[in-house]
Amino acid sequence: MTVVVTEAMTVDFEELGRIHPLYATYWLCKHMEEAGRKIIIPFLEEGEEGIGSAVSARHLAPAVAGERVDVVAEHVLTERNRVKVRCRATNEAGRVIGEGETEQTILPRERIEGLIRAAAGATGCLESSEPASGGIGRDEFFAIMSGFATGVAVVTTLDLLGRPRGLTAQSVASVSAEPPLLLVCIDRTSRTLPALRARGQFVVNFLRADHDALCALFASKADDKFANVVWREAGNAMPVLHEGSLAYAECRTEREIEAGDHVVLIGLVVGGKPPSAGDVPLVTYRHVRGWPEP
Ligand SMILES: Cc1cc2nc3c(=O)[nH]c(=O)nc-3n(C[C@H](O)[C@H](O)[C@H](O)COP(=O)(O)O)c2cc1C
Repeated sequence: MTVVVTEAMTVDFEELGRIHPLYATYWLCKHMEEAGRKIIIPFLEEGEEGIGSAVSARHLAPAVAGERVDVVAEHVLTERNRVKVRCRATNEAGRVIGEGETEQTILPRERIEGLIRAAAGATGCLESSEPASGGIGRDEFFAIMSGFATGVAVVTTLDLLGRPRGLTAQSVASVSAEPPLLLVCIDRTSRTLPALRARGQFVVNFLRADHDALCALFASKADDKFANVVWREAGNAMPVLHEGSLAYAECRTEREIEAGDHVVLIGLVVGGKPPSAGDVPLVTYRHVRGWPEP
């Protein structure tokens, strides 16, 4: 990719008492990102987009307004949905003025739009409903809902740095059989939510009765909940708590819906494991956790 440096792409450097308007490092990074993006475009599937998730640059030499800069991008490696690209910028004289790496994460276009809106301070959700009014109070709501016995799950994912993240959730339900969809409701203040949104993939781990400690751990705000937890990669490359779960569902986020103080993630189930005969689930009823008699 070739760019001609305009005055708008320069910043003033003051050296030896003189002002030198020079090609800004910001623009070097931006042009490297653009060159990196161009590489992935032919490989994007319908409805997919690439979002810049990292850029590093070494600005080695100056360029001035009016000068032509060639930015060449070269694919280095692809890990799952992340594409790493090496970039080199040269000036008209063939001198290398910048080098660096960029990373693009490939996601469904609507998820990228949600992320951009979130970054811009908007809700970051793809669908929203009008705020409801006239409902009962929070305590009464919790008391009523505690009469619906549910299993207890841990929803797990990886953040964009590849670190495992997760939270305890009981707001899990089956949505559709064809296509196979489930939902999980995540509090907007959850520290796992940004990773769930950015990654667009997750696992719902249905806990065994004797793994209440996992429930408590993943309901906490501990910094590294996975430090002493046994897990492995599931079929969708997300973490699965295979020892603590009697069943799990591997999901790809299809939709996000804003609903009050929660975000509903609708996941397409792409794999998983059912329970075996004799497995006993952890359940919660009236705010107490336990297990049903077999
Ligand atoms: C039994 C149980 C069920 C829970 N269900 C949910 C849920 O469905 N959705 C949710 O967002 N939080 C739920 N929580 C609360 C979260 O697990 C808790 O806020 C946790 O600290 C979130 O962690 P994070 O901020 O690291 O994501 C539940 C907690 C417990 C103990």
